Amino acid sequence: MTKPAITEPFENLHDQILDAVGEEGVVAAPADMARYLAEERGRFVGRAAFVVRPASTAEVAEVVKLCAAAGVGVVPQGGNTSLVGGSIPFEEGDEIVLSLERMTRIRELDADNFTITVEAGVILQQVQEAAAAADRLFPLSLGAEGSCRIGGNIASNAGGVQVLRYGNMRDLVLGLEVVLPDGRIWDGLRALRKDNTGYDLKQLFVGSEGTLGVVTAAVLKLYARPREVVTAFVAVPDPAAALALLGRLRAASGESVTSFELIPRLILEFALRHIEGCRDPLSAPQPWYLLVELFGGREDGGLREALEEALAAAYEDGTVLDAALAESETQRRAFWQLRENLTEAQKFEGGSIKHDVSVPVSAVPAFLKEAEAKCRELVPGCRPVPFGHLGDGNIHFNVSQPEGGGAAEREAFLAGWDAMNRAVHDIVHRHRGSISAEHGIGRLKLAENARFKSPVELDLMRAVKQALDPHGIMNRGKVL
Ligand code: FAD
Ligand code: MLT
Ligand code: ZN
Repeated sequence: MTKPAITEPFENLHDQILDAVGEEGVVAAPADMARYLAEERGRFVGRAAFVVRPASTAEVAEVVKLCAAAGVGVVPQGGNTSLVGGSIPFEEGDEIVLSLERMTRIRELDADNFTITVEAGVILQQVQEAAAAADRLFPLSLGAEGSCRIGGNIASNAGGVQVLRYGNMRDLVLGLEVVLPDGRIWDGLRALRKDNTGYDLKQLFVGSEGTLGVVTAAVLKLYARPREVVTAFVAVPDPAAALALLGRLRAASGESVTSFELIPRLILEFALRHIEGCRDPLSAPQPWYLLVELFGGREDGGLREALEEALAAAYEDGTVLDAALAESETQRRAFWQLRENLTEAQKFEGGSIKHDVSVPVSAVPAFLKEAEAKCRELVPGCRPVPFGHLGDGNIHFNVSQPEGGGAAEREAFLAGWDAMNRAVHDIVHRHRGSISAEHGIGRLKLAENARFKSPVELDLMRAVKQALDPHGIMNRGKVL
């Protein structure tokens, strides 16, 4: 391999790491490093001395030890689908990216214990497929599941479209193996549902966004694979009606509601306009939609009837305007394709200012009303397209720039990102909500997080960081 132009203090480190992980384990040519240094939304582009791709926990530990000795920062990376700039280094170029993409072993699946033990680099979809092959369900599901990796899901405490029933990653982890910032390996790979022997250390690393250590493997919970899946695309007049339907369905189905996704008409139009193969499931345009899915334990277990009855009753009282039930897996997939492409569809409509927020579910209608009014006051003509996980109060309150306009208008609109974030987050705060429901803080939300976190909470987080990473080499400048 031609020796890349790696300058001190990285030259020596580069050679040491090359010895530890071999040629396969180091990427140093700028063209080959590019994909590790750009992030999903193109807001940040980082620089790194080089990228390391260890193939085992022992190699990860060796690499971290060498970086700690050299005082060089480490940015752990999984699928690099982070939406807050957490997975790429800063522009200074004085960190290395440590990609877990070569650690893709499924170490064990214990169907009787309803657990699966996987390495950090296993892609989420692969875990879902391995579980299904054993007649089990691994319930984490999100738009990036084809490329995000389990280590990243854990470090970002990923949420997605089934949190309402199965919780987020924090609720799905039973045990972790972690390489600590000093290079020691913590083997916490226990497959127990009960273990009351001191602090629950694994939970420190869930959601830590790579700032406390490198997750190298995990024991994850599995669930029974559903025998009945009922999916509907439902039109409602407004978010308050959506909320009423949620309560009705949860009651009518004995907590079988698995997904409850809110979609406003405008963003559906974005998808119909720009995404190949997307079709409106209903015959006439409606103001708001819900993608609803229920899982049951028995074929024809009556879930479909329960849903139809609840929809019919809601139709009678005007809280439902129309609905289509999926009659086939193909139709079900078509409904989900609409939902999963909302992220992509926004890219074709100019600049989009993002908010990943949560409020108590009952506060969503009031929050939406206040936040929409505020944004229109700030930027007349802007187009709020609030969508997402209504079932857990998590709304992606994204706002597209006013219709039309070119690059200049896009720039001007995006220049208002921080001001709009502050305005929307103030409203979230008034509703005792969170300014980052599922995507984390990364580098994007540092200032906003510091604005709302109490001094006590920030002190506690700094104390944990100081205890585990006293030399501050893990994912510098992220989260805190
Ligand atoms: P990366 O992006 O590589 O890293 C994420 C963070 O974890 C970074 O801070 C990184 O440093 C750290 N990290 C990565 N691997 C490790 C490790 N092994 N040890 C320690 N730290 C590590 N997120 C949701 O929660 N819900 C959604 O519905 C959702 N939908 C999305 C839809 C699309 C189209 C896209 C592009 C993203 C979406 N995301 C969503 C965001 C993203 O997919 C999640 O945050 C995901 O969990 C990141 O996984 P990853 O493997 O890509 O991690
Ligand atoms: C989603 O739920 O689609 C994502 O979390 C939101 C986004 O990609 O903006
Ligand atoms: Zn989401």
